[in-house]
Amino acid sequence: NGDKLWGGRFAEATDAFVEAFTASVDFDQRLYRHDIEGSRAHARMLARVGVLTDDECRRIQEGLDDILADIERGDFAWLTELEDVHMNIEARLIERIGDTGKKLHTGRSRNDQVATDIRLYLREAIDALILEIRRLQAGLLDLAEREADTIMPGFTHLQTAQPVTFGHHMMAWFEMLERDHARLQDCRRRVNVLPLGAAALAGTSYPLDRRYTAQLLGFDDVTDNSLDSVSDRDFAIEFCAAGALIMTHLSRFSEELILWASAQFGFVDLPDRFCTGSSIMPQKKNPDVPELVRGKTGRVNGNLVALLTLMKGQPLAYNKDNQEDKEPLFDTVDTLAGSLRAFADMVPHIQVRAETMREAASRGFATATDLADYLVRRGMPFRDAHEVVGKAVRHGVETGRDLGEMRLEELQGFSKMIEADVFDVLTLEGSVAARNVHGGTAPEQVLARIRAARAELDKG
Ligand code: ARG
Repeated sequence: NGDKLWGGRFAEATDAFVEAFTASVDFDQRLYRHDIEGSRAHARMLARVGVLTDDECRRIQEGLDDILADIERGDFAWLTELEDVHMNIEARLIERIGDTGKKLHTGRSRNDQVATDIRLYLREAIDALILEIRRLQAGLLDLAEREADTIMPGFTHLQTAQPVTFGHHMMAWFEMLERDHARLQDCRRRVNVLPLGAAALAGTSYPLDRRYTAQLLGFDDVTDNSLDSVSDRDFAIEFCAAGALIMTHLSRFSEELILWASAQFGFVDLPDRFCTGSSIMPQKKNPDVPELVRGKTGRVNGNLVALLTLMKGQPLAYNKDNQEDKEPLFDTVDTLAGSLRAFADMVPHIQVRAETMREAASRGFATATDLADYLVRRGMPFRDAHEVVGKAVRHGVETGRDLGEMRLEELQGFSKMIEADVFDVLTLEGSVAARNVHGGTAPEQVLARIRAARAELDKG
C-alpha cells in the first residue's frame, strides 16, 4: 500500500475488488472545482495563521491552479486506486510540487473536506435553480397576462365546477413556484455554513481561523459543533425535499398540459419542437416533455427517500455510508435543472384555444352557483337557492341545455324571484367578473396579482 495516502499502517495491498467497491471517484470527480476552491482557501488560511509559509502557500496555489487547468482541458487521469476526488487531487499536487504539497492536508480531514465540497456545490446548484424557477415564473406571468380574460372551465373532481380564466389558472402554478423559490432560498441559508475546521470529528489542535476560511469561500457562518459538521447531511435532505416538491408541482402541471393537449380536451397546443411523433401512427404528436417531467418526479422522490434512509441509522460522527449521498443529490440537481429548463423554454409558447375552452365552460352548468347567488341576493336562503338551482340543472340535463340557454319563463318555473336580469349572471364573463375577491378569478384581481408579482420578480 506504499502509494496510498493512508498506506502507512497497512501490511497488505487492498483487495482489487474492494478498491473498486469503496471508490467514489467515478462520481465525485464532479466536485473537482469545489474541492480545489476549498483547498485554496484552506491553504491561504494556514498561511495566515503561520502554519504554512507564504512561499509554501503560493506553491500550493499555483499547483492547484495547474491541476484545475489540467482537469478542465481533459488532461487529468482519475485513478480508482486513489479512491475519491480529494485524494486524486492531493496526490497530483504532491506529484507536481513535491513535499510542500504534503502540507496542504494539515488540520483537515476528508470528512470536513467533503462536507465543505458538497456545500459549495449545492450552494451553486441552488443559485442556478433559482434562476430557472424565476425564468419559468416570468413566462407564466406573461402567459397569464395575455390570457387574463380567457374563459375556461374550472374543475373539481375533474368535473366542470365554475368558470375561471386561463390567466388565473396559470397564476396558480406561479404561486406554487413562488413557494418553491422561497424554500430554496431558505434551504440555502443552512447550506451556506462552513464545516471545515471540524477535521475528522473532534476539531483540530492547529490554530485555524475558521472565520477567515468562511469569508474566503463566501460562507455566511461557521458550524458550531465538529461532530455535527462531519456527520450531518440534513441540508442535502432538505434540498431534496424542496426538490421533490418542485417536481411534484411540475408533475401536476405536466398532467394538465397532457390532458389539455389531447383531442378530447383540445384546450392548448404545445409547440411542435417540444413534442415527438410516433414511429407507427403518422398522425401522432406526443407531449413527451411534460410526460417525462411527470415521470422524472419518481426518481427525485426516490432520491429523497434514499437520503433519509441513508442517514437514519448512522451513529455520530462520519461514516462511509455518507459517500452514498452524492449520486442522489447530483441526480436531483440534474433532474430539476433539466425539468425547469424544459418548462421555462416551453411555457411562453403554449398556444391557447380560447374557443374550445369557452365552449367547454359553457357546458356542464358552470354558472349554477351564480344562479344560486342571484337568488340569495333577492332574499332566498342559500340552502333553498341550492335546491332550486339543482332542480333547474336536472331539467337542463333532461332537455340537453345549459341554464343560460333556457327561456326566462322556464327558469321562473323554478322560482318567481328570477327576472330578466338573470341572464347577466348566467354569462361566463359575468360569472368570472363577479369573483372579485382578493385571490379570485376576476380579471381585475388576476391582473393586480400579476402586477404585484412582476414587481417582486423585478426586484431580483
Ligand atoms: N469519499 C468520501 C465521501 O464521499 C470522502 C470522505 C472519506 N472519509 C473517510 N474517512 N473515509 O464521503
